[in-house]
Amino acid sequence: MNIKERLAIEGWVHLQDVGDISTLRSYLPHHKVFSTKTIKFQGARTVEHSNTLVPPHTDVFWVPVPPRYLVLFCESPASVGGESLLISNVNRCVSPDILEILKTQSIAHEKNGRRYTYKIYANDIIRVPHNYRSIEKAGSQYFLDAWAAFVDELRKNVFKVKLEAGDGLIVDNHSSLHGRLRFDNTRNQTRILHKVLINE
Ligand SMILES: [Fe+2]
Repeated sequence: MNIKERLAIEGWVHLQDVGDISTLRSYLPHHKVFSTKTIKFQGARTVEHSNTLVPPHTDVFWVPVPPRYLVLFCESPASVGGESLLISNVNRCVSPDILEILKTQSIAHEKNGRRYTYKIYANDIIRVPHNYRSIEKAGSQYFLDAWAAFVDELRKNVFKVKLEAGDGLIVDNHSSLHGRLRFDNTRNQTRILHKVLINE
C-alpha cells in the first residue's frame, strides 16, 4: 500500500528514519506545495511558535479549500514533551447528528485584515481552529451544544505520537486533526520541525 492509500484509510502516517523533508515530500509527488516553514520556538508569541499546548486543529482552516496534506519532519525533538496529538478521520468517529448541526453554522475568521467564513464541517472537509474559544461566540446555543459534544468526541479519539529526530508525519488535513502537547527545550536540545503544506 502506498502512502496516499494509507492516508485515505488511516488519516495520518508516522514514518521513522526518513532522512529529510524532501524524502517525505517525494511520497506525494504530484501535489503542489502550498507553503513551507521551519517551526522552532525562540520565544515568539504566536501560537505556532510557542511551546504551549496546541489542541487538535486543521491547518489554514479558514480558506475555501485548506491544503490537503500536512508534512512534518522532525530535525530535533524537545527535551521534554511536545508529543503530536492526532485524530484520524474525524467524520467517522463523531456522530452524524453532531456533524449535521455543525454544517449549519458559518463562522467568521479574520486574518491579516481579511474576513473569511468557514464551517466546522462542509463538503467532507473538517475545519477546526487552533483557538477553540473563538467558536464560543459563533452561534446559537443549539450549535454550541453540538460543538461541545464534538470536542468531547475528539477527546476520546486522540492518539499521541512522539516524533524523534529523523521521523516524519503526514496528515490528511481534510479528514484528520493534529496538535501537540506543551514542551520544554534545554540549551542543548531544541525542538525543530520542518513543515510543508501540500495542495490537493
Ligand atoms: Fe498545525
